[in-house]
Amino acid sequence: MQAIPDTLCYLNGEYGPLRDAKVSVLDRGFVFGDGIYEVVPVYGRRLFRFDEHLARLNRSLGKVRIASPFDRAQWLERCRRLIDAQAADDQLLYIQVTRGVAVRDHVMPPDLTPTVFMMTNPMKPASAEQRHQGVTCVTARDFRWERGDIKSVSLLGNVLARQISADHGAVETIMFRDGFLTEASSSNVWVVHEGAVLGAPKSEHVLEGIRYELIRELCEEAGIGYNLRPISEAEVLGADELMLSSATKEVLAVTQVDGEAVGHGALRGKPGPVYAKLYEAYQRAKTLQSI
Ligand code: PDD
Repeated sequence: MQAIPDTLCYLNGEYGPLRDAKVSVLDRGFVFGDGIYEVVPVYGRRLFRFDEHLARLNRSLGKVRIASPFDRAQWLERCRRLIDAQAADDQLLYIQVTRGVAVRDHVMPPDLTPTVFMMTNPMKPASAEQRHQGVTCVTARDFRWERGDIKSVSLLGNVLARQISADHGAVETIMFRDGFLTEASSSNVWVVHEGAVLGAPKSEHVLEGIRYELIRELCEEAGIGYNLRPISEAEVLGADELMLSSATKEVLAVTQVDGEAVGHGALRGKPGPVYAKLYEAYQRAKTLQSI
C-alpha cells in the first residue's frame, strides 16, 4: 500500500493528519457512493475560480438532495486553513460531502448529518514534455450512467473508462454516446474546427467543467470563435486541433488519438495555435482570478 501523507485534512468538524482520518463503514459514501465532490485548483495559495466551484458543489448537492452543510464564508475558512498547512504553493483542494452514516437502506434517510471531508494535495501539473508535444488519448463508447452532470463520488464508470487509456499508456479516454462526443473520463474535450473552439452541449451526459465558462471567456478575449453543439466521432478524429480541460490539466493539447496523429499539414501531431493562445490566456487568468 502507498503511504498516506500526514498533511492536514478536515473531517466532520475536526482537523488532523490525513493518515489518521476515519469514517464509519456505514457511511453512505462508502456503501453506495452516495455523495458528491469538488476539485478546486490553488495557485500561489489562492483559490482559482472558487465561486464557480462552490456554485457547482451546491448544484450537485441540490441534485442529490443533500442539504448544503456550510455557507460560503464557512467553506472558505476551512479551505484557507488547509491551504496554509500545505507545503506546496500550488495545490489541488478536494471537497467531498456524502449523505452521512446510516443503517444500509437504499431509501434516503431523512435528517442525516452529511459527512464533510476536505484535503489538499500538491498540484501535479502537466510536464514540460506534455506541454511541448501534446498527449495521447484513446476513444471508447461512453458506458457510464446518464447523470454525468452530477459530480458524484460514484466514479466506477469513470475509473473503468480511465483504465482503458492507462492500459494503452495514454492520458485520457475520449468517449462517445450514440456516435457523439460526451467528454473524457476526468476532463472535458474541445475540438478546433476552422479556427473556432467547439465543445459538446451541456447536458445530463457531460459534467459541466468549470473550464466550460472559462474557455468561453478566454476565447472571447482572444477573438476565437466558441460554439457548443453536437460533435460527431468523425469530427473529433478529423479535428484541426484537439484539447482536454480540467482543474489539473488546465488546457492540454491532444496530439494523438487511437494511434493516429491529430491535425493536418505541418501541424499534424503537434500542439496547434489555438491551444497556444488559450494556454497563454489561461496563465494570465490564473493570476487575475484567484482569491
Ligand atoms: N475531474 N468531466 C469529468 C468527468 C471530470 O471528472 C472533470 C474533472 C471534468 C472537468 O471539470 P473541471 O474543469 O471543473 O475540472 C470533466 C476532476 C479534476 C477530478 O475528478 O479529479
